[in-house]
Amino acid sequence: MQVITIANTKGGVGKSTLALHLAAAIQRQGLSASVIDADLGQRSAAWFLERRYARLNGKAGEPISVMTLARKPDGTLVQRFTELVKAERDKGRRVIIDTPAGGGRCLNAALDLSTLVVTPINESLMDLNAIADDEGRPGALGQKMEAARERREAGQRPKLEWRVVVNRVSPLISRNAGKVGDRLRLLAEARDFEIAGHLVERMLYRELFEEGLTLFDLFRPGLDDVPESARKARDEMQTLLTGLGLPAVL
Ligand SMILES: Nc1ncnc2c1ncn2[C@@H]1O[C@H](COP(=O)(O)OP(=O)(O)OP(=O)(O)O)[C@@H](O)[C@H]1O
Ligand SMILES: [Mg+2]
Repeated sequence: MQVITIANTKGGVGKSTLALHLAAAIQRQGLSASVIDADLGQRSAAWFLERRYARLNGKAGEPISVMTLARKPDGTLVQRFTELVKAERDKGRRVIIDTPAGGGRCLNAALDLSTLVVTPINESLMDLNAIADDEGRPGALGQKMEAARERREAGQRPKLEWRVVVNRVSPLISRNAGKVGDRLRLLAEARDFEIAGHLVERMLYRELFEEGLTLFDLFRPGLDDVPESARKARDEMQTLLTGLGLPAVL
């Protein structure tokens, strides 16, 4: 069963947004997904779920499941996290792990349990440093991925797949797009990942998250007053899902 870790040591790049959208997309395909919120400080996914309950109030919407870990001063966090991921996976659910900026204490365990790692990055040269710097030296995230792949190799397990999503792409012509795109393609080859697609910078993503909604909640049978920007966003998300190897939703 699939375990997908959403990881970037850089903060505010869209990890939680993407985690919740992937879970919603999987639910809408008639499969079940659990988001495990490994961001114990911020608990964005858990916060999203609270807003979702309040907003939907029993009305139709994907029953997104978010699980959090209790903060206990007993040093068993990583073990409890590992058990939770395995338990959800063994129930036949797809598991999406939302990790914090910096990676957090559970990141290595998450990488070891994953079938796929998805990294959203902002469309900026500086943000690529988390993967590798100008001299090709791996950055904070690049090092974590390298070490996780080495552990796999040592254990003779299949290679850890890694896909990068460029987020907050300017809807206008970006001065940086060419440079960022060129550098990202070089890095993809050097650090062995695929570029899965992109999401445009849209106020809608922020508004939806704050209401505990995903793009998919806007598209229900009988609703035809969906704004054009939401349609564009949905098309983008569909293309991205395909790029991540997940079936498109609608
Ligand atoms: N494509 C986008 N367009 C506009 N706003 C976006 C987009 N993607 C994410 N955001 C907004 O950017 C902010 C950060 O996104 P999110 O919380 O998903 O990032 P994160 O990587 O999980 O952050 P953290 O590292 O703090 O956990 C949120 O307010 C979110 O709504
Ligand atoms: Mg987050």
